[in-house]
This record gives sequence, C-alpha cells and structure tokens, in this order.
Amino acid sequence: MSNAKDFARLPGFRDFPPEEMGLRSHLFDAWRRVAARYGFREYDAPPLEPLDLYVEKSGEEIVGQLYNFTDKGGRQVSLRPEMTPSLARVLGDRSRSMPKPIRWFSIPQLFRYERQQRGRLREHFQWNVDLVGAAGPEADAEVLAVALDGLRELGLDARHIRARVSDRRLLAGILSALGVPESRLLAAYGVVDKVEREPPERILQRLTDEVDLPREVAEAVVGLFDAPELDQVEARFGEDPDVAPHLASLRSFLKILEDLGFGDYVDFDLTIVRGLAYYTGVVFEIFDRAGEFRAVAGGGRYDRLLELVGGESLPAVGFGMGDVVLSELLRERGLAPDTSHSVDHFIVIIGDEQASLARRIAASLRGRGRSVVYGIRGQSVRKQFSAASNEGAREVVVLGPDEVNRGVAVVRSMDSGAEREVELTALLDDAAVGA
Ligand code: HAM
Repeated sequence: MSNAKDFARLPGFRDFPPEEMGLRSHLFDAWRRVAARYGFREYDAPPLEPLDLYVEKSGEEIVGQLYNFTDKGGRQVSLRPEMTPSLARVLGDRSRSMPKPIRWFSIPQLFRYERQQRGRLREHFQWNVDLVGAAGPEADAEVLAVALDGLRELGLDARHIRARVSDRRLLAGILSALGVPESRLLAAYGVVDKVEREPPERILQRLTDEVDLPREVAEAVVGLFDAPELDQVEARFGEDPDVAPHLASLRSFLKILEDLGFGDYVDFDLTIVRGLAYYTGVVFEIFDRAGEFRAVAGGGRYDRLLELVGGESLPAVGFGMGDVVLSELLRERGLAPDTSHSVDHFIVIIGDEQASLARRIAASLRGRGRSVVYGIRGQSVRKQFSAASNEGAREVVVLGPDEVNRGVAVVRSMDSGAEREVELTALLDDAAVGA
C-alpha cells in the first residue's frame, strides 16, 4: 500500500514552482544573451549516456558520484554528471568537417550522487561554454570573459565575485623542480586541490602517504603555498625551462582579460588545480568575494579529451557554471528578480450580460500581444479586484452595465488608482494597436 510519504521528492532534487522557475529562467535568459554576444551557439545531447564515457575520462571524484545502472537491454548507462564528455563525443562525430574554432554552449541538467550540502545537490543546471580548436591564452581568456560577463549580466561585478586562476602546466613545472616525479603529478594535483579545505599537517601526510613523496619533497610542496603571488613564483622558478614558458603564457592570459575589462575580477592562485582528470593547462574557479559560498563556476583547458573520446585531436577550453550556488548568491545579495506574477490587464465583469463582451475584449487585447486575465467564476466585484491584485495586474478594465450601455469601460491603473473611460471600440478594434 502506498501513502503520501512514498511520493516525497528525492533528497537533493528540486521542484520548480513558478516563483523558482522565474529565477531559473532569469539565469538561463542572461546566459543565452551573453553566450550570443560572444558568438556561441547552443547545442544539447542526451541526458543518459554510456557509462564508459565517464569512467577514466572524468576522474575518480565524479565516477564515485554517478547515477549509473544497467538498462533493459543490458547496457551499462549513466545519467550525465557533466557535459564535457558528451560535447567531446558530439564533436567527435562531426568536427572534421567544421570550421574552427568551434564556439558552442549548452544548459544541461546534470546528476551527481553527492552528499547533500549547502550549494551542492543531486541535480543542477549548468551553463557550459566551450571553445574548441584554438590553443593559447587568447582562447582561454575569451572563455573566462564569457563566464564573468554572464555573472555581470546578472548584477554581480568585481565587488561580489572573483576568478582564481592557475595553469596545470605551470604547477607541473614547479612540482618537477621541487622533485615530484611525473608519474606522481596527477596524485599530487588531487591533494593540492584540497589545500584550502584541509590543515597543512594533513596535506603533508597525504603527500607522503598517498602520493608517496619523500618527506622533504612533501614539505617543499606545502611551503609553496606560503608565497602565493605570481611575482614570488617568478622570482623563485622563473629561470626554470619547465616553468618559464607557462609563466609567460599566464601573464599574457591575465593581460588579455585586462583588455577585455575583467582585470579586477581575476587573481592568480596556485592552489587551483580542479578535481576533474582531463585538464591540461589553464584552470580557474569563480567564487563570491566574501568566500561564503562554494564555487559558482569552474573550468579550464583540456587538450586531449576529444581525442580520448575517439574524435579529432583538438585543443579545447571551457567552463561550467551551476545554477544552485548562483541562485543562493543572487538572493543573498538582493539581486534576484521579482518573480511575482504580473499581467497587463484584468477584466472585471459586473453582470453575466457582459461576459461575452469581456471575452471578446480579452481576445482582441491578447491578439495585440497583451496578457489578459478575467474572472472565470461569477465572483463579487471585490473578489475580482483582489484577484486582479494577486495576478499583479497593471490595469483593471471594469465592464459595468451603465458604462457598457454608453459604449465605454472604466480602466483603472492599479499603481496610481487613477481611472479613465476608454471606448469599447478601442478595446475591441485591432486597428487600435499600440493605442
Ligand atoms: P565542475 O567544477 O564539476 O566542472 O562543475 C562546475 C560548476 O557546476 C561548479 O562550480 C558548481 O557551481 C556546479 N556544480 C557542480 N556540481 C554540483 C552539484 N552537485 N550541485 C550543484 N552545483 C554543482 C565541470 O562539470 C566541467 N565539466 C566544466 C567544464 C566545461 N570544463 C570544461 N568545460
């Protein structure tokens, strides 16, 4: 036997009643406007994919969170936890015949079986913007600029948010200079990724136990994060041939962002490496400046993923921006839009004789693109006025018998309370468009 509890929403999933949907559409509209401004075109792919698409390519952290199962045909499948492998697959089938670079964006719903916490759910929507077929700091900067502009479009500027940027090639060069063997780099990234969330002793222990580094090397790695400025890194490692080219390219990335108007939004931060396995170059995460929330967005360069997924070998860079943290941040900063319902006109019908006229006026106004609601049950005038106010109507059109007999209706502005008489022919006449 079922009871109401059986139908409770799954933990980590959301309903979207109209007020919530209003905020969601507000984000999506802004994301679409900004993507278009930078020349990106929208695509989509299936929400269910072969499990293999994620295993190995995305890395352990995400694979541990997959919503995977065997389908009725015996296939190993998974709901998509991220969009990037799907993008690589879609391009794998067609990129050879496409002019480069390719600028594509998407707003998929993604599923990760995560421990539920503030800012992390089991489903979220993610704005994905990817630039494929162009290597180098210009492409990296263009993509980060799209992310920052998307946030600025929603009212968040350099006072509210900042991007923390680094480059895995730079970190690799520095770690090699400190004696970390190449075979241990990926494991070391996993620990560096947690530098901010775990105490130094724990990081040191993980570097020796999990990454298997000699103690003095592990200590040198931990010490690295005491002097985090780019100038200090340059003073210490600038002469190293494995470090110098990546420092130069990071500097040019920062300079291009300055040209694009985002200089104030970006900080160098060597602790940013990102949890996903496929990044090969620039990496970045965007946070609220006060540091109260989890990351709003993350991304970077991944030059080998397309080839791994069986496509053409193409350099690529992109980011994902989630709707969960962003919605929290907008609400917290008073930047969420008013999502109360609003229509242009509410028609108040005094007697049944005016019902047909009300419907004809509604049809005519709707034909001119206005939103119109009228009382559909024989309600008192008072109730109809309160319904008009619940709908957030801008104007109320009152069809009283005496006025209708004179060929007019009374139109009242709900803001000012001012009333005026309007000819019925004007309300009914298509020719009066814009009147
Ligand atoms: P990601 O860092 O895993 O990157 O996710 C990007 C953003 O999605 C996060 O910063 C966060 O805002 C949001 N997000 C991730 N997981 C959750 C969750 N469980 N609940 C709520 N929000 C979440 C990627 O997914 C990469 N594929 C992005 C990318 C695109 N890289 C290159 N192109």
